[in-house]
Amino acid sequence: MDMNIASLIKRRLPETYDLHRQYVNPQFVRVLEVIGYNRNYCSAQGAKLIDEKGREVLDFLAGFGVFNIGRNHPVVARALQDMLHCSGPNLVQMDVGVISGLLAEALARIAPGDLDAVFFTNSGTEGVEGALKFARQATGKHKVVYCKRAFHGLTLGALSVNGNEEFRTRNEPLLPGCIQVPFNDLEALKAALSGRDVAAFIAEPIQGKGVFVPDDAYFPGVRRLCDKYGALFIADEVQTGFGRTGRMFAINHWDVVPDLMVVSKALSGGYIPLGAIITRRAIHSKVFDCMDRCFAHSNTFGQNDLAMAAGLATLHVIEEEKLIERSARMGAYLMSGLNELAGRYELLHQIRGKGLMIGMQFGAPESLALRTGWKLLHKMNEELFCQMITIPLLEKHHVLTQVAGHGLDTVKILPPLVIDTADADRFLEAMDTVLKDAHKFPGSAWTTVTKLGLRTAKTA
Ligand SMILES: Cc1ncc(COP(=O)(O)O)c(C=O)c1O
Repeated sequence: MDMNIASLIKRRLPETYDLHRQYVNPQFVRVLEVIGYNRNYCSAQGAKLIDEKGREVLDFLAGFGVFNIGRNHPVVARALQDMLHCSGPNLVQMDVGVISGLLAEALARIAPGDLDAVFFTNSGTEGVEGALKFARQATGKHKVVYCKRAFHGLTLGALSVNGNEEFRTRNEPLLPGCIQVPFNDLEALKAALSGRDVAAFIAEPIQGKGVFVPDDAYFPGVRRLCDKYGALFIADEVQTGFGRTGRMFAINHWDVVPDLMVVSKALSGGYIPLGAIITRRAIHSKVFDCMDRCFAHSNTFGQNDLAMAAGLATLHVIEEEKLIERSARMGAYLMSGLNELAGRYELLHQIRGKGLMIGMQFGAPESLALRTGWKLLHKMNEELFCQMITIPLLEKHHVLTQVAGHGLDTVKILPPLVIDTADADRFLEAMDTVLKDAHKFPGSAWTTVTKLGLRTAKTA
């Protein structure tokens, strides 16, 4: 039987939301419907999505940071087609493949310092699980220190080092020996490590939930404390890696070399699940220390040919198109535009981030009327305010963004690194209009979001 995916998608597209309501996640479908995000996207290129009505949406979410090189990049598509045409001996398992060797070589070349031993994974959370196991085995200890608000994935090990209650709840007890400390607090870290019984400290160089950037002294201090007290430092670069923050890896901003680094998301250009743990050979050799233990940690699909080809092609594109420099440049452009808006609009308190990982922090306004609106809305629901920004950005201006985490008045943008000044200006103009509307209280922006709050409360 002929299987034509393109015509199948076209024919069944109108059923998308019903299919998901029935077979996948009905609560997510409800959320999308309530906030008006229930579009059917039909195609995508670079930083743009096209919906079923032919509307062009500027994608400032990039699949949660997957599409650093833009969507459907032709170089990666071509590499995948080439790989398929090779009819290669994929996943023989009792062999080692050339293409995985090449991607490991390429990762070792760009990794900080002397990190040159690579283990491939299928996702970010799997990389975190592996890094925790490597750290336990390399040190012979089991405790792990992690940060408040940290996000490292949602499988049980990664969840044990997740600093957000909303994810942890209903899953306890989690792994024993996991100790939470505030991010950007060296004294707290010192207290947690000083017993010399900790295997590893794990942190995102820039926290994804809320986009928190540490002081410049923090990661050099982390390195010193880990060395002093015999703990390994795991840098989770799943979201910050591959040019996102204007450097190849965010930890490069502070010239710090971690002991283990976890990468994923943007590595395969958004086509195929792929991740990696990159560590030092000495650490790797403590896990895989004899022939009996050559499979001491393993998976089935980690080195699959398509993911490897996509990874190699993606790294090539990042270098060829100078996307790291572009991320730094476009990030500075956006931050300067947003800071200008923050100077004019009292609800917008702070812009933070690096490169194209930017958080817009909102806060209580000074003027009396607006302050009343702010208080009422927060009393109703702590999560609501940012919807007043993200909903009209999509509905009226066709710009896709996200709230930076539960209970935060922060909107986050993670555009593909390929955006140009026209895209940035389009976003800044849309923000200007949305902020103007949000500064009229009472006004339609507040009414809409209050109605949304009432509706959510009723249907919860
Ligand atoms: C910093 C960080 N680590 C780990 C993960 C988990 O990655 P995955 O969703 O691929 O399991 C994420 C996902 O958003 C992340 O942002």
